[in-house]
Amino acid sequence: MTMKKLKIGIIGVGNISSAHIDGYLKNPHCELYALCDTDERTLAKKGAKYSISRLFSDHKTMLKSLPELDAVSVCTSNIAHAECTIDCLRAGKHVFCEKPMALNAEQALKMKAEAEKVQKTLGIGFVRRYGKDAELARELVGDGKTGELYYAKSSYIRRNGNPGGWFADRSLSGGGPLIDLGVHIIDLVRYIAGNPKPVSVYGATFTKLYDRRNLKDTKIYLSESEDNRVCDVEDLAAAMIRFENGFVLNVDTSYSLNVAEDSGKTEIFGTKGGIKIDPELSFYTEYEDRLANISFPSRPIFDGSEYAREIDDFVNAVLTGQTTRATADDGVQIMRILDAIYESARTGHEIILH
Ligand SMILES: NC(=O)c1ccc[n+]([C@@H]2O[C@H](COP(=O)([O-])OP(=O)(O)OC[C@H]3O[C@@H](n4cnc5c(N)ncnc54)[C@H](O)[C@@H]3O)[C@@H](O)[C@H]2O)c1
Repeated sequence: MTMKKLKIGIIGVGNISSAHIDGYLKNPHCELYALCDTDERTLAKKGAKYSISRLFSDHKTMLKSLPELDAVSVCTSNIAHAECTIDCLRAGKHVFCEKPMALNAEQALKMKAEAEKVQKTLGIGFVRRYGKDAELARELVGDGKTGELYYAKSSYIRRNGNPGGWFADRSLSGGGPLIDLGVHIIDLVRYIAGNPKPVSVYGATFTKLYDRRNLKDTKIYLSESEDNRVCDVEDLAAAMIRFENGFVLNVDTSYSLNVAEDSGKTEIFGTKGGIKIDPELSFYTEYEDRLANISFPSRPIFDGSEYAREIDDFVNAVLTGQTTRATADDGVQIMRILDAIYESARTGHEIILH
C-alpha cells in the first residue's frame, strides 16, 4: 500500500526556507505543495525555482484556499512567527517554526498552548541539535564519560556581521545577536546537558558599534531583506545562566566586536571529562592517572545534512505522533532565558525565573 504524502506549505521563502524545502524534497513522505511570502518578488523567484504554482502573498488566504495542506514550515522574519504558527495550528496544520520561536516568552507560551489545544505537532528549528557534534556529545554525556556536568562556556562572535535588514530592527527581530545567534548555542548547551530548566540569569548587552555601516569591507552575512536603515539592536550580549541542577552556562555573542576574527566555540565541563566543539569535537579526560586528549577523526562533525535531519525528525513526529527533538517547550525555555537576559541588561540585576 502506498502512503499518502504529506502536503507541505512554506510561509516566508527567503534565505533559510531553501534548507527546509530541500529537506522536504528529499523526504519520501512529503510533497512540496504551496509557498507563501509577503514579498511578491521573492515569492515568484522561489516558485519558479521549485516549479510550484500554488503561490500566496498572505498566509491566511493560503490556509483558507488549501484545506488539504497537512503541515507548514514558518520561515518568516521573527515578528511573524507567533501569528503564522497560531493561525496554522488553528487551521489544523502541524507546524515547524524556525528559531527563535517568537519575539518573547509570552508569544512562545501562546504558541505552545495552541499546539496542545489542537493536538498538533509544533517543532522548533534548533538545528544545532541535529549536528553530529551534538550527537557525539550527548553520547559522551549519556555514557557517563563526562561525569556530572557543572559548567559551560559558549561563544558565537562575529567581527563585522550585522546582517542589516529586519535583523537589525528590534521591532521586527526582537533583538540582535542574542536572539539570532546566541539562541543556537544556548540551546545546544542546554540540549547536551539534558534540557535542564533555567532558574536565574545575569546579563549585559551593548549597543556600541551598531552595524558598522562606515566600514568599506564587504560583509559576509547580509540579509536579503530590504535594508530599512534602522539599527537599534545590541551588537554584543554576555550572560551567565544558572539551571535547576546547579549547572551554569557563560555565554557571549556578537554581530560586531573588535576581535581578530569570527569564532564559535563551546566547552562543557564535567567531573570526569570536558567536551570542546570548535568546530571539531575534542574530549579531555584522565586515563590511568594521566591527562588524556581524545579527538574523533573518524566521526565527521559537519556534513551538511543537519537541516535535512531536522525536517525528517519533524515529518516523523507528524506521522507517528512522537515528539520532535526540539519541542515547543524547549522553544519556550529558551525564550524565557533570552527575555531574562534582556531584562537583566536593562535593570542591571539578576533575574530569577519562576
Ligand atoms: N536555523 C538556522 O540556521 C537559521 C538561519 C537563518 C535564519 N533563520 C531564521 O529563519 C527565519 C528567516 O530568516 P531568513 O534569513 O530566511 O530571512 P529572510 O529575510 O531571508 O526571509 C524571510 C522571509 O519572510 C517573509 N515574510 C515576512 N513576514 C511574512 C509574513 N507575515 N508572511 C509571509 N512571509 C513573510 C519575508 O518577505 C522574507 O522573504 C528567521 O526567524 C531566522 O532567525 C534560521
